[in-house]
Amino acid sequence: MPSLAIIGTGYVGLVTGACFAEVGHTVLCVDNDPRKVEMLTAGGIPIYEPGLEDLVKRNVAAGRLRFSTSTAQAVQEADVIFICVPTPPQPDGSVDLSFIEGVAREIAANLTSYRIIVDKSTVPVKTGEKVAETIRRYARTKVDFDVVSNPEFLREGFAVDDLMHPDRVVVGVSGPRPAALMREIYEPFKAPIIVTDTNSAELIKHAANSFLALKISYINAIANICEASGANVLEVANGMGMDERIGRRFLNAGIGFGGSCFPKDLSAFIKISETLGHDFRLLKEVQKINADQMDRFVKKITDTLWVLKDKRIGVLGLAFKQNTDDVRLSPAIELCNRLLKEGAKIRVYDPKAMEKAKPILPPGPTVEYVDNMQDVPVGCDAVAIATEWPEFGKLDWASARQQMIAPILFDGRNLLDRLEMESLGYLYKGVGR
Ligand code: UDX
Repeated sequence: MPSLAIIGTGYVGLVTGACFAEVGHTVLCVDNDPRKVEMLTAGGIPIYEPGLEDLVKRNVAAGRLRFSTSTAQAVQEADVIFICVPTPPQPDGSVDLSFIEGVAREIAANLTSYRIIVDKSTVPVKTGEKVAETIRRYARTKVDFDVVSNPEFLREGFAVDDLMHPDRVVVGVSGPRPAALMREIYEPFKAPIIVTDTNSAELIKHAANSFLALKISYINAIANICEASGANVLEVANGMGMDERIGRRFLNAGIGFGGSCFPKDLSAFIKISETLGHDFRLLKEVQKINADQMDRFVKKITDTLWVLKDKRIGVLGLAFKQNTDDVRLSPAIELCNRLLKEGAKIRVYDPKAMEKAKPILPPGPTVEYVDNMQDVPVGCDAVAIATEWPEFGKLDWASARQQMIAPILFDGRNLLDRLEMESLGYLYKGVGR
């Protein structure tokens, strides 16, 4: 079996490395942060992701998963080198590819015999061509290599499961040799493998993520029509979703999408399209609906509570979605900031994300972090649900009602049963129902 190296032990790199090791591959994960490498070698992990810690520990103990700070070592030891470095957005929405270029140059400087270089980071179409050009330019000798595009579709919070049981594996290649090796590497996952040219593989990632974001904005727009007409978006989504061509998933209306992927990938794709001569107006509208969704939710709160100054509002959820401690571009944090701007005081809770939230939403006289979700409603004028953590449904809402100043619920994720909450005496405001 080919031996593997992963350059960049962030979210995608670490989970990919651990899952490859789990199915029997030998994997060397490289990161330029020595503290991270030390932590991982000792069995600790820098992120919260269900199942990941066990996976890393087990495979480190079995000797299949190792960590290093040396890209040179990776190029020497591994037949296949996966690039999993960040591709952050620039102020104009385009993608910063300097980390990718940097790794390509480092690989080139250490290349002495045939290697496959696989790009797993989300990149604009035609990046593979640039990576190949860079490696050719900076290689010390004339060495044969192939560049492959292998986009990653994992969802945070379900990353291990998504990687172990992918819907499909997309492999973009320029010839039969890398295609055969990539098939061998992915064979243990027993998933359909789609082999394309590199440009198509790169495009699949942006096209897929933008489509999912579009699906969310679509149902959010429908939710607005539901509110205006007295229909229920949950019923509409169920009815639409039963058409197999549409599907029920990603039709949950709420306060909009966030996180490190959708907002960034949408902006990037709009920019990429612009560069290629297409004005992707449809995706610009997707962004606009998403921004409006937060405005509408805040307006719903201000319309109901009237004056927000000095009102105390409990906010359940800080992560950008359930099952993660990630707060990057979290709609929940945005909501908190909007409430604070209106002069409200907030009591916040998240099952996993409180530590990561503190640097961007510092505790203080107006922001109180609460250790137990049951205590959040105490003394509040209203409670808002901002993240779809299922446990918020299990809060004892009957006793919470007794401890609130006014029993008002803003359910930004449509998590609770409206009739049940109303029977407990709450004024319930969901999204589109
Ligand atoms: C996404 C893609 O799903 C994944 O395939 C890709 O590799 C990376 O981007 P992720 O950002 O981890 O994954 O989260 P996802 O579960 O897709 O949710 C993204 C955002 O959309 C969250 O803020 C979530 O709350 C929101 N969302 C999702 C909705 O508002 N409604 C939905 O129906 C689904």
